[in-house]
Amino acid sequence: MNKNLAVAAMALAVAAGSLVATPAAAQFAKAEDAIDYRQSAFTVMANHMGRLSAMAKGEKPFDAASAKASAQLIQTMSKLPWEAFTPGSDGGFSNVKGDPWKNADDFKSLQEKLMAETAKLPDAVGSLDGLRKQLGATGSACKACHDKYRAQ
Ligand code: HEC
Repeated sequence: MNKNLAVAAMALAVAAGSLVATPAAAQFAKAEDAIDYRQSAFTVMANHMGRLSAMAKGEKPFDAASAKASAQLIQTMSKLPWEAFTPGSDGGFSNVKGDPWKNADDFKSLQEKLMAETAKLPDAVGSLDGLRKQLGATGSACKACHDKYRAQ
């Protein structure tokens, strides 16, 4: 590869990198797409919280391997909804209340609290006691935000 080509290839790589960094709003063509995306992420996360909860309550036998798989998914899913809270996406089939956009700092700190708790889940669910404790802490972080920003 000659030198000019190498420089051009690097410039392309940099340009591709900047595409990844486009503002969140640009990732969703319509407000409905953003609402769909975040509700889907919440739905998957809640499903796996439910699986852990069934073990915590003894409705399902404790199984460390599947608890860990759910915990890892919850940790991953807990990072996803936030970029989809694009400004103006509070209409339609959204159940947002209390204006998370006007209270952006508070909304963000509630997200961070959740992600801090879900980050502890994969290690915590190695035992039933650990699962119960960290599931409770995680559930409280869900509730703290829902009380303020999710219409029931
Ligand atoms: C920082 C705030 C926040 C946190 C933390 C949070 N949620 Fe939510 N959640 C919301 C908001 C806001 C909505 C409403 C979104 C909408 O309808 O546009 C919502 C909606 C949902 C929905 C309904 C999805 C649908 O299909 O309508 C479920 C289920 C849900 N959350 C589960 C959870 C679970 C489980 C956790 C914790 C593991 C959690 N959420 C943590 C803010 C939060």
